[in-house]
Amino acid sequence: MPAIESPDDHPRLPQPSKDVPAFSPSTISVVFVLGGPGAGKGTQCANLVRDYGFKHLSAGDLLRAEQARPSSEFGELIKGYIKDGKIVPMEVTVALLENAMRDEIEKGNTKFLIDGFPRKMDQALKFESHVCPSMFTFFFDCPEEVMLQRLLNRGKTSGRADDNLESIKKRFRTFVETSLPVVDYFEKEGKVVKIDATKSPDEVYRAVKTGLKDRFQQRIGQ
Ligand code: C5P
Ligand code: MG
Repeated sequence: MPAIESPDDHPRLPQPSKDVPAFSPSTISVVFVLGGPGAGKGTQCANLVRDYGFKHLSAGDLLRAEQARPSSEFGELIKGYIKDGKIVPMEVTVALLENAMRDEIEKGNTKFLIDGFPRKMDQALKFESHVCPSMFTFFFDCPEEVMLQRLLNRGKTSGRADDNLESIKKRFRTFVETSLPVVDYFEKEGKVVKIDATKSPDEVYRAVKTGLKDRFQQRIGQ
């Protein structure tokens, strides 16, 4: 039987340079949460945080916080992208997420729901190669009529600059053109748990828990 060579057999050969993610998926669990605007991602993430001890990191919330930070060099840029429903250049969003994850990992947290991300293929590839490969993606599937109604309702109290009809239409368009290809990409890798998000929050959560158990069984409750 041929011997299997280990790198130690050639101690002087340079090792190929590897682009190693900052966090290892063997110790850190990343679940992406995708779905159109108003699909109910935030609502379901709150349930999962309460019941399973996930840390919830919303890319949109991190961007809004960065935009509001007085000394941010990206404030104006982020503002414009959000109002137009466009995807902020990924370097900004990936860096915000990596920093937020690092803070949480230092506090001992290991399970993350990354909500509203990745919304574009370049974000997906960059995050998985530089930050941490994902375990799977929840995809909250919801028709635009339902999401529109929810967003217009939310707009009465959310104070968000993009919960108005004009911005909502742009966000829908960005979702279909730019974000659905990310769902397709993970689907081809067998890493999507699709949830019917038209039902009541409780019914949707039941489906979420079933999906989670299937994917996460061995690691929940560690
Ligand atoms: O997820 P949420 O609806 O809070 O996102 C609000 C806006 O933040 C998006 O419409 C987009 O402009 C920006 N965003 C982004 N990249 C992400 C998430 C959000 O550019 N991954
Ligand atoms: Mg949200």
